Amino acid sequence: MSAKRQLRLGTILHGASGNMSAWRHPAATADASINFEFVKQTALKAEEGKLDFLFVADGLYINEKSIPHFLNRFEPLTVLSALASLTQNLGLVGTLSTSYSDPFTTARQFASLDHLSNGRAGWNVVTSPLEGSAKNFSREKHPEHALRYRIADEYLDVVKGLWDSWEEDAFIRNKESGQFFDAEKLHALNHRGDFFQVAGPLNIGRTPQARPIIFQAGASDDGKKLAARHADAIFTHHESLAEAKAFYRDVKNQLEGQGREPDSLHIFQGVSVIVGQDADDVERQYQTTAALVSVNDALNYLGRYFEHHDFSQYPLDEPFPDIGDLGQNSFRSTTDEIKRNARERGLTLRQVALEAASPRPRFFGSPEQVADGLQQWFEEQAADGFIIQGGTPDTFPRFVEQVVPVLQVRGLFRTDYPGSTLRESFGLTQPKNRYGK
Ligand SMILES: Cc1cc2nc3c(=O)[nH]c(=O)nc-3n(C[C@H](O)[C@H](O)[C@H](O)COP(=O)(O)O)c2cc1C
Repeated sequence: MSAKRQLRLGTILHGASGNMSAWRHPAATADASINFEFVKQTALKAEEGKLDFLFVADGLYINEKSIPHFLNRFEPLTVLSALASLTQNLGLVGTLSTSYSDPFTTARQFASLDHLSNGRAGWNVVTSPLEGSAKNFSREKHPEHALRYRIADEYLDVVKGLWDSWEEDAFIRNKESGQFFDAEKLHALNHRGDFFQVAGPLNIGRTPQARPIIFQAGASDDGKKLAARHADAIFTHHESLAEAKAFYRDVKNQLEGQGREPDSLHIFQGVSVIVGQDADDVERQYQTTAALVSVNDALNYLGRYFEHHDFSQYPLDEPFPDIGDLGQNSFRSTTDEIKRNARERGLTLRQVALEAASPRPRFFGSPEQVADGLQQWFEEQAADGFIIQGGTPDTFPRFVEQVVPVLQVRGLFRTDYPGSTLRESFGLTQPKNRYGK
């Protein structure tokens, strides 16, 4: 009999955790986004709970309306490299944009992180939703949505090609003969495409995971297509079980179209959680955190999804305004969802903004109730795993100490790491080098 299928868990660094104003919370580390001791303790806590990975999101443009966490935070690869030497089993997943970087540098950096961490590197591939990013990278214009995904597709071909530059046993280092490497096992890429011309080879050898784990975080049709072609994991977010199941089915079907097995790509739902003693305790925790967000802050938060649109020009207590196609070229899937939700539930602008800035956690209650919710989503094939975000600044340690053991007793989550690499944690096979080993 095959072993019971188990869910997978990660956590995300998001400042103090909770909402944009949670740095004001009595339990919060106010400078969490730039406090390495806080980051280190979060990583060690995740490893104590045998979580698969720690996830670092990123963005490339801020202005004075950006949320506090975005104003002053660590760059993903740097902070993950620092964590590599302080952790043993935890996957280290960082976000890097294919619209504002070069494949050679990216391939090299993630290969380097994979070596530094003995096989725990993951790359969250994003195409960058924010128009303003162009201004920080000497560009006239932010590439539009479809073009960004065409670039990303070719980019990933190049990076994967570069990661095959060296076969596994290419470096001989024979002190007697003086032979450092086997020239037969070195391969130049010589890529010439629509967007990139990259000769190769890469100046770092094949990595412990053969290549780092690839995450993708975009939910539009183009995003799903990219994931089905290239990714080992998807980071997504859906409000309802029905939507999450539809997304799950769609992506798994697309995998088949690419000749891939359904379990060769794990779908992670990003979920906010509050763990309490009972319903009153949970409500009190939520209200304490939500009360820290002002309406102005909430309007700014909402505006960022819509190309930093200024929502303060509309009446607060009338139905959510008609803003046409705004948002289509930035966070398309998220902005479509916000508009649809406002329309269907007849929400006012104030309600939409406050819900966006301080969403009620999807899973809340006693440790057993939180575990019930995660179990249901997992068993009904809405997710292969979850990226846990604390709904308050003190939730994540409580999740590890109280919810993880419940999942373990139910046989839904591991009690130890199966190996030392993220690929082993994910139960994924080691990819073959296109040239040999
Ligand atoms: C759950 C989730 C997490 C994301 N994380 C990031 C991120 O850290 N950095 C970033 O630039 N974009 C991030 N994005 C944005 C996507 O990469 C993508 O650019 C955006 O969602 C538009 O593409 P889409 O229409 O395919 O969703 C995220 C999107 C989702 C849904």
